[in-house]
Amino acid sequence: MAIDVDAARQDTRGTAHATHLDSAGSSLMPRPVADAVVAHLRREELVGGYAAAAEAAERLEAVYSSLARLIGSSPGEIAVLESGSTAWAAAVSRLRPAAPRVLLGRTEYWHNVLVLRRLARRDGLELVVLDDDAHGQVDVAHLRRELDRGDVGMVALTHVPMGGAQVQPAAEVGRACRAAGVPFVLDACQSAGQLPLDVQELGCDVLVGTGRKFLRGPRGTAFVHVRRELLDRLEPELSERRSPARDAGEGRARLLESWETGVAARLGLGRAVDHALELGPEPIRDRVRALAESLRGRLAALPAVQVHDRGLVRCGIVTFSVRDRPPDRVQAHLAGQRITVSTAPLPPPAAEQVLDPAPEHQTVAVRASVHYYNTEEELDRLAAALS
Ligand SMILES: Cc1ncc(COP(=O)(O)O)c(C=O)c1O
Repeated sequence: MAIDVDAARQDTRGTAHATHLDSAGSSLMPRPVADAVVAHLRREELVGGYAAAAEAAERLEAVYSSLARLIGSSPGEIAVLESGSTAWAAAVSRLRPAAPRVLLGRTEYWHNVLVLRRLARRDGLELVVLDDDAHGQVDVAHLRRELDRGDVGMVALTHVPMGGAQVQPAAEVGRACRAAGVPFVLDACQSAGQLPLDVQELGCDVLVGTGRKFLRGPRGTAFVHVRRELLDRLEPELSERRSPARDAGEGRARLLESWETGVAARLGLGRAVDHALELGPEPIRDRVRALAESLRGRLAALPAVQVHDRGLVRCGIVTFSVRDRPPDRVQAHLAGQRITVSTAPLPPPAAEQVLDPAPEHQTVAVRASVHYYNTEEELDRLAAALS
C-alpha cells in the first residue's frame, strides 16, 4: 500500500519547521519514537535506571525481535550497540579472518577501512580494493577472480556509501561469498530504513545498521547481526564478564554489547523499527526512490549544478556541486532558508585513496537525502533556493 504522506508528516513534527533533506545524516524521529524515549527517561527520573529497565524488560527484549523481523534474522543473532562504527569494529575485530586476504569495495566507509588497516598490521593481512564497474558499483567478476585464488578470509562491502546514490549488488556478492565459503560483512548503515533488507537473500554473515539515519531512530543506537554459525567465534571480552548469562545459546551475539547502555534510546530504536515495519520496507523504498529521481531531474535542469550520482540502482541520497561555490557555503545558504542538507565525501576513484581515507584525498559534495515524508513541494523549494 502506498504511504499516506500527510499522515507521515503529521507524525513528524519537524516537518512543520523546516525542509529536512538529511536522512543520510540524521533523520527526523516520528512522534511515537520520541515519545518512547521521553517516557522511559521520565520513569528513570522517578524510580531510577535499574528499576525502570526492569519494568521495560519485555519491551527491551522485543527490540531484538523487531530488528530480526526488519532484516530476516533471529533475535539471538542480534546485538544492539551505540554506533554503527563501534558495532562494525566489534564484530569484525572478533571474527578474525581465517585466510590472509581481505577484499573491500570502493564505497567502504572510512572508519571500517581504518579498523581493517589496524587488523591488517596486527595480523599480517593484505587488504585488496575491488575494481568498480562502469556504474560505480563493485565489479563482481573481479570479486569472483579474487575468491577463486582460495586465500580470501573476508569480504567487506558498504551497501550504500555515505556520499553516493549507488546501491551495491550485495546479494550477488553474497552468493559469490557463500559459494566460496568466505564470510561477508555488509555495512547497511545507509540502507537500513530506506531499502528492504533480508540477510538470507543478501547472503551476508554480518550486517550492521545505525538507528538515527533512514531508520528514524534516536542518536546513539545501532545494531549488528552475526549469523548463527559464526557466533561461536565471538570471544567474550573482560567488560562482558558482568553478564555471564549472555555467554551461551540464543543470545550469544549480545557478547558484543557493553553492559551499560542508554535504555531509553534502545526503546526508541525498537519503536522506530516497528514504525518502518508498519509502513512497509517496499513502499518506503519506492517512495524514496521516486522522490530522489525527481530531485535529480530538478537539479539537472539547473545550469550551475552538477549531479554526481552513479549506480545502476540508486537510492535516496542525491549528491551534487554548485559551480564556484564550496559545498559548506551551499549548505549554509540553504540552512538560511530553513532547508537542511549536509556535505559528504564522494567515493574515491582510486584504490590507494580508499585505503588512505585522508581529507586531502576526498572530493566533498553537497548531500540532499530524501525520505518518504518529504514532498515534491519541498524539492521545488530546494531547487528554487539553488537557482
Ligand atoms: C556507510 C556508513 N557506514 C557506517 C557509518 C557509521 O555509523 P555511526 O555514525 O552510527 O557510527 C556511517 C555514518 O555516516 C555511514 O554512512
